[in-house]
Amino acid sequence: MKVLRTAADVRAWRATVDPLALVPTMGALHAGHLSLVERAKRDGHAAIVSIFVNPTQFGPREDFAKYPRREAEDIAALERAGAAAAFVPSVDEIYPPGEATRVHPGPIAEPLEGAARPGHFVGVATVVVKLLAIVDPDLALFGQKDFQQLRVIQTVARDLRLRARVVGCPTIREPDGLALSSRNAYLSPEQRRSALALSRGLFAARDKWAKGQRHAVRLVNAVRRHADDPGVSLEYVSAADPITLAELNGPAERIVISLAAHVGKARLIDNALLGMDVSDLS
Ligand code: PAJ
Repeated sequence: MKVLRTAADVRAWRATVDPLALVPTMGALHAGHLSLVERAKRDGHAAIVSIFVNPTQFGPREDFAKYPRREAEDIAALERAGAAAAFVPSVDEIYPPGEATRVHPGPIAEPLEGAARPGHFVGVATVVVKLLAIVDPDLALFGQKDFQQLRVIQTVARDLRLRARVVGCPTIREPDGLALSSRNAYLSPEQRRSALALSRGLFAARDKWAKGQRHAVRLVNAVRRHADDPGVSLEYVSAADPITLAELNGPAERIVISLAAHVGKARLIDNALLGMDVSDLS
């Protein structure tokens, strides 16, 4: 596996592989990230995984400085997973001194995480467009775990007429339901037990949906009832259209239930897609 640190090195290497899939990450890799590498290989693509803790997507009071950084372990995990290359740039390589260009996504970036974290999706869209410009992959893989991020990148790629196909892959969970996340590292054992309330709430909505409940507000109420835990502070629970992310207030044939919550020092997000699979989106 190649470890590449500059855009020039990536471009020279890229000319030697085809077809190529990009898996953008911020490192502290877990089985969720590695499932994206597996998916690239299964689809017959060489995989390049970027590891870059992107400063522009963190708010001033967020965890940029504390975000887990484990480069050596991450590179070893990618070797074992069969990635073809890791791209591990410095901040100056992605944001050269004096740079000022930003990618502003439209309305898809306004609700949910966009409302809770002002500027977050400008940072995400900017770094992903830079990575796509450097790597020029055929395929770019993103997890359903960050559902709005997937929809933002699909929309930006369509609007900017980027060449890469942007594909979403299912959320990988612990056996007890907790969605894998690099931020789970912030949880004490007790907080980790509390954090199970998130998936429990989403699974309750999924059960209601399976029994025929289609009403967005009733599904949100089911999540709130089942996610009740003294260690969990719910920030929002939303039922939205999976294409536009516009909030739903009545019955619908396709719904994404999204939530964000604070558990100890960690801010966690999770979601469930009802009436469709993430692979239906492009
Ligand atoms: P990061 O949180 O490291 O996630 C990298 C990719 O892994 C994202 O596409 C995310 O949705 C996916 N992922 C995370 N947890 C997952 C899980 N449990 N199952 C499946 N996929 C999962 O998301 C980012 O980094 C950044 O915002 C980035 C896109 C790299 C831009 O900086």
